[in-house]
Amino acid sequence: MGLYDQWYENAIFYCLDVETYADSNGDGVGDFRGLTSRLEYIAGLGVTCLWLMPFFPTPGGDDGYDVADYESIDPRLGTLSDFSEFIYEAHERGLRVIIDLVPNHTSIEHPWFQAARADPDSPYRDYYVWRADDPGDTSDQVVFPGEQEGIWTYDEAAGAYYLHHFYEFQPDLNFANPRVRAEFRRLVGFWLQQGVSGFRVDAAPFLINLLGVENTLGMQQAHEYLRELWEVTAKRSQAAILLGEVDVDLSVMADYFGGGNELQALFNFPLNRALFLALAEGSADPVRLALNELPSIPGAGQWVNFLRHHDELNLLRLTSRQREQVYAAFGPEAELQVYDRGLRRRLAPMLGGDQGWLRLAYSLLFSLPGTPMLFYGEELGMGENLSLPGRLSVRAPMQWSTYDNGGFSSAPVEQHVRPVLAGGDYGFEQVAVSRQRGDRDSLLNWLAMLIRVRRECPEIGTGQWSVIDAGDDAVLGLRHDGAEASTVILNNLASTHRTVTLELPADEAERATDLLGDRDYTPLADDQRMRLNGHGYRWLRLGGIY
Ligand code: GLC
Repeated sequence: MGLYDQWYENAIFYCLDVETYADSNGDGVGDFRGLTSRLEYIAGLGVTCLWLMPFFPTPGGDDGYDVADYESIDPRLGTLSDFSEFIYEAHERGLRVIIDLVPNHTSIEHPWFQAARADPDSPYRDYYVWRADDPGDTSDQVVFPGEQEGIWTYDEAAGAYYLHHFYEFQPDLNFANPRVRAEFRRLVGFWLQQGVSGFRVDAAPFLINLLGVENTLGMQQAHEYLRELWEVTAKRSQAAILLGEVDVDLSVMADYFGGGNELQALFNFPLNRALFLALAEGSADPVRLALNELPSIPGAGQWVNFLRHHDELNLLRLTSRQREQVYAAFGPEAELQVYDRGLRRRLAPMLGGDQGWLRLAYSLLFSLPGTPMLFYGEELGMGENLSLPGRLSVRAPMQWSTYDNGGFSSAPVEQHVRPVLAGGDYGFEQVAVSRQRGDRDSLLNWLAMLIRVRRECPEIGTGQWSVIDAGDDAVLGLRHDGAEASTVILNNLASTHRTVTLELPADEAERATDLLGDRDYTPLADDQRMRLNGHGYRWLRLGGIY
């Protein structure tokens, strides 16, 4: 990659949706001006890169993942110049911004689809994937069981069936069509020119899915599209990335990195599942196993680790026994589950609001090889709003204050784009920025400290890592060796205390410095034995700057 800036190998990603973050003009919808006014807060937390969920004009059937125009801003959220101002202010604070790119499908209302359905001779017809014959029952192939009947829908105007892996109002684009590819290369160029540092590539495996497209195409040629997107990205910017949403079999996962010339970063879905299994079992074994099984990736590639994001916690790829275990621990009731495969919950309520357990979970996340991602509100321990349908439960407005309906918007509550969570243990009256700011023991302030420590340990993102056997299955020991320094981290997944031993060379042990812990630890004794409390954690630095 030569002089390419690999900032994403040690980034702190923070995902948010503009429409639920902060409303500046009192219309009940979050907007770019509102977000811009909160950039100090985000930068103060230590975040280095924002990921914005789709903010384009949309009928809103899939919370903006049904895009009606890729080139402008949803007017409810502001204008292109508001966006520009936001980018400027973000950069002023050292924050990068990546945005969602949804190239697999458009909204049914996109002018391309409208033209395609209206006229078989339109050049847009072949932008989509059609078939004339009845596809039969395809209900077993849908992405959203219960909300989708099949993946082909008959369009009266077109007199044919169109493909849609997702909702029927999200027709799949025909990526084998050179014109479609040219459109997206142009769009990538356009947004890079607006100052973004890359894209989160939505539904990447569906994007290059061969169903219905030229049957002469093989997977190699399909991957060519990702290489094209990468080429235009790299050409426009020496510091922009493609971060892929790729939840596929481990055997083909690394293919999406290509040789470093497809997607530079992938969300670590395999580790995500393992983290929840480990939290449910109180054992580090699932994480050790998942780390072992991760495919090796090119030098320019990176994993983005996360606990929760804007979708359901997808447990489909666990065995049914494991899935039942996670359900039993974190969401036994039907209303907490969705699509027969996951949980529509945020982390804090899953862990019963237990502050020690929550911190252990984040200590674990931040200690893993790769770079971490947080979903807005995680820093406060926000809960889910189960009155919202399906996956929207985790996408309620940001909770800024304990008054004024959480401070998200000055509009009457009925006008809010989505109701803020009110009442109970996780409502805005209890969980809010204003309440946690001044409390030195709050999750918010603790997480800011964790982020600071993680940023001081770049070897976690770029060094050589190894699992340390500390002598107890419940404890995950990780060591990261970089050119300047090493970090050793112990995380106790069990709720009961454990006595563990490190076996560091004596000269390293003597100079080990505590960076972070669930309590004050005494310096390592000669035998390097120590007691970790239930859900305890300890971060030690060997060498480097103290
Ligand atoms: C991705 C998004 C999800 C969306 C889907 C269709 O999986 O994360 O929220 O519904 O793509 O665009």
